Amino acid sequence: MTINFKDYVASVSDFPEKGVTFRDISPLMTNGEAYAAATDKIVEYAQSKGVEMIVGPEARGFIVGCPVAYKLGVGFAPARKKGKLPRETVSANYDLEYGESTLYMHKDAVKPGQKVLVTDDLLATGGTIAATIKMVEELGGIVVGTAFLIELSALNGRQKIQNYDIFKLMEY
Ligand code: PRP
Ligand code: HPA
Repeated sequence: MTINFKDYVASVSDFPEKGVTFRDISPLMTNGEAYAAATDKIVEYAQSKGVEMIVGPEARGFIVGCPVAYKLGVGFAPARKKGKLPRETVSANYDLEYGESTLYMHKDAVKPGQKVLVTDDLLATGGTIAATIKMVEELGGIVVGTAFLIELSALNGRQKIQNYDIFKLMEY
């Protein structure tokens, strides 16, 4: 059976604020068959790129990346928000709609030369993924691809990651 992944995305008007249509992936996660099928698609992509390590930003990047890492038998490293990682970190700033934020990774999370896939649920403006890529590269990792469940194409996030391959399951 082929799964139409969009059947498992809830589009919510005026969330988190008026005028925004929020694409909620939680129905996809709560359906075991859909979650497994989405994971398998990303696993196939990762295998085609020879991926040795997965990195994903807090929090929804974990939901996408961890099952992929498990299935491939490779490691997963989180990019986390402020004050969460106890050991030495690298960091990268990124723009939010209003203001700025920072992500952090442990310095030993990625080994030099390791082929890394960066995963997240959704590509919007691209700030989150670009910050994550910057840290992976600072640690010496080679970003061989990025994978998302959803690309919001009107926000043009792919412009921020022009030099990287992008895999996505859905586009809005
Ligand atoms: C959302 C989403 C992506 C990011 C996409 O995460 O899960 O990580 O925004 O936006 P961008 O492409 O414009 O950077 P959010 O920061 O809301 O955090 P969460 O996963 O912890 O909810
Ligand atoms: N859905 C989920 N996360 C998001 C969205 C969205 O539409 N836009 C920015 N982050």
